Amino acid sequence: MNNLRIGLPSKGRLAEQAGELLGQAGLKFRRQDRSLFARVSELPIDITFLRTDDIPVLCAEGAIDMGITGSDLLDEAGVELTTRLALGIGKCRLSVCVPEDSAIQTPADLDGSRVATSFPHVTEQFFQQHRANVHLVPLSGSVEIMISLGVAEGIVDLVETGSTLAANRLRILTDIGQYETVLVQNKQTRRGDIADRIVRRLEGVVIARAWSLLEYNIPRAKLAAAELITPGFNSPTVNALEDTDWCAVQVMVKRKQVIDVMDKLEAIGATAILETEITNCRL
Ligand code: PRP
Repeated sequence: MNNLRIGLPSKGRLAEQAGELLGQAGLKFRRQDRSLFARVSELPIDITFLRTDDIPVLCAEGAIDMGITGSDLLDEAGVELTTRLALGIGKCRLSVCVPEDSAIQTPADLDGSRVATSFPHVTEQFFQQHRANVHLVPLSGSVEIMISLGVAEGIVDLVETGSTLAANRLRILTDIGQYETVLVQNKQTRRGDIADRIVRRLEGVVIARAWSLLEYNIPRAKLAAAELITPGFNSPTVNALEDTDWCAVQVMVKRKQVIDVMDKLEAIGATAILETEITNCRL
């Protein structure tokens, strides 16, 4: 029983995304029906399926060695864990929101009001810092309807696209924090060697998802300009071509920027510009 234990969200979108990420990193497991455990094939790892919001405290208590959860839930739990890796998914903000037509301008204006939230600890700290004394209404969900239900004058909720706010005619007063899905580890992990291997593997997948490989030919005279446009992850690989006035460049480019970078390279004379999506890497 010296296996590394990893806690994964048991349901929802995050459960799916976490499973995909681990699969891409070569951790193969099969969850039978709604079983709470699974064993990873060919590696000494056990998976435990848990509520996402319980993962921080269970990891801190040593029930699991590592876990995938939201950094928002980490802050709310207030536990001491090491964040090993940001997983590039689940990006959101935790915001103080009020009705669109409210006269409230600053968090201090909510002094003496009721604020509904599923993040009571973070919210309490925030309003204390702003010297506002609010009455907290702690809830586990559906926070966005609490103002129209007459339960609160303000809410503190997660905002991703903003569509929930728009649908409920609410606006953001201010942000409390920016959060995303992370891989956490406790201080007394039994299998630090395996934990490090998992981190390296996941890092390879996370980087591969965010970057593409771009190849192009460029006149040598323009190479310095091209390198300014594509500095790469570390530095570009430059190869000679038979025509000595030209060279071939291979470089990593942030996926979100690829199209824009292609335009810029073309404008300075690059040709044969090719994007290749990578699925995994070690850098
Ligand atoms: C979260 C959050 C908001 C919504 C924000 O709820 O509580 O309600 O997403 O996303 P949007 O800005 O893209 O609309 P979730 O769907 O996780 O369920 P919950 O209400 O149970 O928290």
